Amino acid sequence: MCGIVGYIGGREAYPILIKGLKRLEYRGYDSAGLALIDHSESLNVYKAKGKVSDLENAVEKNDTTGNIGIAHTRWATHGEPCQANAHPHYSASETLALIHNGIIENYASLKENLQERGYEFKSNTDTEVLVQLIEYFKNTETKDLLTAVQLALREVIGAYAIAVLDKNQPNLIIAARKSSPLVVGIGEDDFFLASDATPIVEYTDKVVYLNDEEIAVLKKGEKLKVVNLYNEEITAKEQIVKLNIGQLEKGGFPHFMLKEIYDQPECIRDCMRGRINMEGTNVILSAIIDHKERLLNARRFIIVACGTSWHAALIGKHLIESFCRIPVSVEYASEFRYSDPVVSSEDVVFAISQSGETADTLAAIELAKSKGAFIYGICNAVGSSIPRATHTGSYIHVGPEIGVASTKAFTGQVTVLAILALSLAKEKQLISQNDLEIILKELLIIPDKMAALLQKNAEIANLSAIFTYATNFIYLGRGYCYPVALEGALKLKEISYIHAEGYPAAEMKHGPIALIDAEMPVVVIATQNGMYEKMLSNIQEIKARKGKVIAFVTEGDNVISQIADYCIELPETIECLDPLITSIPLQLLAYHIAACKGKNVDQPRNLAKSVTVE
Ligand code: G6P
Repeated sequence: MCGIVGYIGGREAYPILIKGLKRLEYRGYDSAGLALIDHSESLNVYKAKGKVSDLENAVEKNDTTGNIGIAHTRWATHGEPCQANAHPHYSASETLALIHNGIIENYASLKENLQERGYEFKSNTDTEVLVQLIEYFKNTETKDLLTAVQLALREVIGAYAIAVLDKNQPNLIIAARKSSPLVVGIGEDDFFLASDATPIVEYTDKVVYLNDEEIAVLKKGEKLKVVNLYNEEITAKEQIVKLNIGQLEKGGFPHFMLKEIYDQPECIRDCMRGRINMEGTNVILSAIIDHKERLLNARRFIIVACGTSWHAALIGKHLIESFCRIPVSVEYASEFRYSDPVVSSEDVVFAISQSGETADTLAAIELAKSKGAFIYGICNAVGSSIPRATHTGSYIHVGPEIGVASTKAFTGQVTVLAILALSLAKEKQLISQNDLEIILKELLIIPDKMAALLQKNAEIANLSAIFTYATNFIYLGRGYCYPVALEGALKLKEISYIHAEGYPAAEMKHGPIALIDAEMPVVVIATQNGMYEKMLSNIQEIKARKGKVIAFVTEGDNVISQIADYCIELPETIECLDPLITSIPLQLLAYHIAACKGKNVDQPRNLAKSVTVE
């Protein structure tokens, strides 16, 4: 979703802004733009539909000098993706330029008021309304940009992360946030601004994450000042980010997604580090130690999440209910927040999110908090909004995920959920030491098994090439692997634009079976577990209708290989950890089909990595 970058200091701003926008490309966008105040103090705005490279081509012959600038990638909400709707937006007099991530919900009434006062609009965006409103206050109430921004933001209902330039104050960027993320990087004698730390870490590791309704005043030669909408000064909390550039590069892989699939063995090791001892005899999750009473006495758990994180939540439910005997409900955050849910102070709400910025998940947290629930976050992006909004939590520690389609974050989430379930079961004395050790020892060797199955990459790539013709796919799984089927289908949809449905295998009889013919590929997860025989029957049902079965089975299975059209063997593991193995070949299948079809794997059309609007 929209990305923001800003720079003010002694260096040339343009290359920093362009590089920053490229670092944020993964968020998903459809147009890009930037504004610079040049050395002769004129304010230049450049915009282009399409990619950041299109913007670079568009500005090629123009003046890109200046030590102060703001830049933006736009993911369309109000108004189609086109040059006019791209940010930055000028104010009417062209003295102000503004970029915005979020949605101004009351933009229509604000616009009407401004139109009555003679303001004209060049775009269909809610953002242009905000810059005009700031200019209106600058013309009528104050000459000072900060005060005008404060007055305007007090009128706004909605979500925003903004940055504003004023050509009459060429040493100043005003930036503010509410519900959409914004980070200030503090350099030696300069400031950086971005939607997340990825464009900043190259220059400084010192950052300040703005909180809701905080405004950062970035002035050349002065210290960072943070105030609220009523101009009360706030002490900015400086933090050190631990990200290195290597984590943000492709490392020889053609796409971030493939790199991130291959990162999984190492990521899962990182995720378990310090939580499971080397001998596999003990498991500790610090959040559980710190909040033991609250968690052990919970009436029930509710997990809120979106997209891939919601699929991980379904596996979490299975793990927690099996091992801890605590009832768990899994809710789409977007539905939960508007459903008038029954939540009380005896409930614990888990919020799962890779980005830690998903607007619906954040809103679900606020709602549950207002009803007294204890909130536990499971996130990847360190320092993001969700970890800051929760009472406690566990990071998944898989490093930055750049490909829009989530891969290593999913297996990281499942790993943390398994650790969580085992830690709670241990605390509740519901698992014997022997059973605990069997699972912990297996978890410790899962990264090796992941690495072994990645050797199947070429086999899966060959298989994928056969299926580029398909316009539909069905994915089937049962038990722990039913959510894996949902996730496999989502991966394919997201990046190859092939319609795919995930189903619990037995439900197939109640509808999807009607779709099966000789053209229909059916992906079946049929590893050796308690559901094996049932899956076998389901495969027979598909074959009886001539469907093309692509089966993922346990190494050494010589039954399904006789029936299925294509069969990929996977390392054996214990049932509750099956998703950590079976999800990876499905990621590879989706990746190779999309790559064969020539799709933009890392930045699929219409999708955003970080969904900061509802
Ligand atoms: C977007 C992303 C998905 C992600 C979902 C939830 O749709 O494209 O990959 O699963 O948001 O995001 P979160 O960051 O909360 O896990």
